[in-house]
Amino acid sequence: MSKLVVKGPVRLEGRVRISGAKNAALPILIATILLKGESVITNVPNLTDIMTTIRLLRSLGLKAEFTNNTVTIMGTNDVRHIAPYELITNMRASFLVAGPILARVGFAKVPYPGGCAIGTRPVDIHLNGFRAFGIDIRVEHGFVVLKSNGKIRGSKYTLDFPSVGATQNLMMLASLAEGTSVLKNVAKEPEIEDLAAFLNQAGANVQGAGTDTIRIEGVPEMINVNYPVIPDRIETATYLCAVAITRGDVILEKVNTAQIQDIIKVLRKVGYTLEEIDDETLHISYDGGDLKGVNIKTEPFPGFSTDNQAMLMSVLAMIDGEKSSITETIFENRFMHVNELNRMGANIEVDGRKAVIHGVRNLSSSAVKMMDLRGGAALLIAGLVADGDTVLYNTYHILRGYEDITGKFIKLGAKFAH
Ligand code: UD1
Repeated sequence: MSKLVVKGPVRLEGRVRISGAKNAALPILIATILLKGESVITNVPNLTDIMTTIRLLRSLGLKAEFTNNTVTIMGTNDVRHIAPYELITNMRASFLVAGPILARVGFAKVPYPGGCAIGTRPVDIHLNGFRAFGIDIRVEHGFVVLKSNGKIRGSKYTLDFPSVGATQNLMMLASLAEGTSVLKNVAKEPEIEDLAAFLNQAGANVQGAGTDTIRIEGVPEMINVNYPVIPDRIETATYLCAVAITRGDVILEKVNTAQIQDIIKVLRKVGYTLEEIDDETLHISYDGGDLKGVNIKTEPFPGFSTDNQAMLMSVLAMIDGEKSSITETIFENRFMHVNELNRMGANIEVDGRKAVIHGVRNLSSSAVKMMDLRGGAALLIAGLVADGDTVLYNTYHILRGYEDITGKFIKLGAKFAH
């Protein structure tokens, strides 16, 4: 069982540089299945999920190497159509290979996906979208078998819910389909815009990313590109929450301030000072004034991100005497960190999709278990202010999504033991 000891309490100070976005890098790496020639993707974070994706691309016949936050990928004319079970079931995002394999081969066999255990997370919206493109779908022996009858033609499809993954899967399929596709009620997250920009640089014609309708004119082929991934908005929010809970003073570099307004607004409302020094530099500090509880609910972008709620909950849990609430509307089971925070002395009640947080003065160190990636980050930042040694178990969860997490925190003043 992987574990890490956080020695608290500490106050974070200094500067931290934000890495490239996992959730933007994963679909972009997978989109290279669509491309011919050698592509170079830069600002890719060094994470276990990225390494899983590289292994996945190799298993499909591409050549891929990771060095110094750069992935060099050689596309192939001979894309294999079967994605291996152990790679797909480890990581939900790997189901994104279905769209590009279909686009290149017309036939794909992909196991049902895995990933964080935050709810049932079905893929029905992906599959209904594929059906709208004339793809025949069967489930056999745990695999989803997808098959087109002849050439894949562009189509119109309205998503039941703006699923990020389904939007990405369909964008990739439509990029090489014949004719025009119109996708409605799509996700508007920055990672969608980043994928669209990547696809367009590779020769696709994707318009409207960032709005709720995307129009795609299919192209016959796509070619190699050199592309930098956007900054990680969830990692940014995690450091902001870590500084906030320790009442610290930190400058975050290489962020994209426009993409993190959800967390900036909430932390300002709570009472922290956030100064946008420029488009990619953000200063967070606390001037000693009263901090207030807030009531928020998670929503699709540009609303408050579901990925940030766990870390914000740790901050709210430490605002003594103030009551806050967080309503989770995106995932049905994303409060797995609550029990563990309560073991550390937090006072949080969950009623269905709503968590009511009664702020306390102190958290106490304890042994706690990470249950998922962002919930794991929430426990780590709670450990920064808990008195004594907080022993975090199952730390492999945070290695999926945070580059050099202990190194970055140590530079800001955190103390760890193994
Ligand atoms: C992506 C992000 C994840 C983020 C989420 C929502 C990556 C790798 N992960 O996940 O960090 O929390 O967006 O912003 O980018 N759903 C269905 N049927 C489907 C697809 C989704 O019911 O076919 C449901 C899911 O169970 C979930 C909700 O829709 O409750 C949102 O899922 P989705 O937007 O697809 O998230 P992911 O792409 O998996």
